[in-house]
Amino acid sequence: MDDRIQIESVLNNLVYALFAHGGQAETSGRPSDFGNMVVFDNPEAVDTIVKAPELFRKNFSLISALGFSRFNTNDQDWSVRRTITQDVYLAAAKPAQQHPVAEIFATCLSSSDATLPAIQQSLFAASMTIFYRAFGLVPDMAATLLLLDRVRDVLRRLQYYSWVTPTTAERGNAIQDARAVVADFASLLMADPRAAAEMDRFRSEATDIEGFSPVEEFVMNFFAGVETSVTTALWVIDRLGANQQVQDRIHAEVLSGDAQTPYTDCMINETMRFFPPIPFLTREVGADTVLEGRRLYAGQLIMVSIVGVHQNPAFWSNPRVFDASRKEFLDNSFDRRAFIPFLTGPRMCGGARLGRLEVREAVLAIVRQFAFSRADDVIRFDYALALRPAQGASVSVSRR
Ligand code: HEM
Repeated sequence: MDDRIQIESVLNNLVYALFAHGGQAETSGRPSDFGNMVVFDNPEAVDTIVKAPELFRKNFSLISALGFSRFNTNDQDWSVRRTITQDVYLAAAKPAQQHPVAEIFATCLSSSDATLPAIQQSLFAASMTIFYRAFGLVPDMAATLLLLDRVRDVLRRLQYYSWVTPTTAERGNAIQDARAVVADFASLLMADPRAAAEMDRFRSEATDIEGFSPVEEFVMNFFAGVETSVTTALWVIDRLGANQQVQDRIHAEVLSGDAQTPYTDCMINETMRFFPPIPFLTREVGADTVLEGRRLYAGQLIMVSIVGVHQNPAFWSNPRVFDASRKEFLDNSFDRRAFIPFLTGPRMCGGARLGRLEVREAVLAIVRQFAFSRADDVIRFDYALALRPAQGASVSVSRR
């Protein structure tokens, strides 16, 4: 079997298994084991984990071959890194940015062919534009899209090798490819004086961090921001195609011109509940402790299943059904601990507001411009740190 196919199928099967596993811990009242990891999917236990980042720490082992950033560091190192980008993301999500973000999606999609791959490409172009714009930059679109594909590919391999021990050669190749993609990203950024100046700003704010690389910081932030937002919009398309009535209702709501779009917002929430863009997290236990009656040891890796939290039957009615008009969302009656697509606590998504803004404006622009239908309703994943619909899903597209 081709290495790539093997890697994709192992990772996808892991996520399918997490879906199958969703809510089981609740039934037994205890966390359960998944391979050699303890999985937590009870919203209360997960809330404890994510609110204690000094005890449940980030450790991405091999993934760190792609470098260090606020995503995969801890303590003071993380805190300094967070400061470099956090205000940028908050400013990019202010209400005044709603119109420009809407314009970017509308423009990118208006020149797109009516095919799923073309729409996907346009969404990536829009999201990349928005990410770069937050830093006052403009991406070299073609080159940056290729780099994004390479980052995804490298991350998928590194993640696979954190589960399935690689040979020395495989490990060496993956690390070499990770370094090459960061080096190529660096060349591209440094060729643009404004981007080079921004990298200087990153560096000047991180003088206390030994070996700090502004490009590593940028690359992982870039992937975290772009991949997740686009993925969410792609799942919305997938579900619109599967349900004509839902699509008609959302189309009518969007065309009504009303500023409030409760059904569209509900559909987006339900999409993120059912297909959380980051379906699970791992954490390293910092010191011996006990959680939900389970003894945990310093150095042990544990898993937080966001899929499982989102499908916990004690917190959701019919959690395994995709319900575009889910009552808990329409009534705003859901327990905040049971809906964590952006996580909660100190290590929650740094771009949560921007992500929400992007997804909403992307969906509004998509629904205005395109109609979707599906010949079947088979759900197939492609997991590479973010969970997206598999390429080649049977969605037909037409321009409205
Ligand atoms: C629908 C869109 C998004 C979703 C669902 C999402 C989800 C998440 C999740 C679950 C985490 C925690 C990962 C972990 O603890 O291992 C995270 C972290 C992060 N996300 Fe997002 N994200 C989205 C959009 C964005 C955007 C637009 C940006 C930036 C422009 C961004 C930047 C980050 C960063 C920097 C972190 C690391 C936070 C830290 O630990 O300091 N994300 N995201």
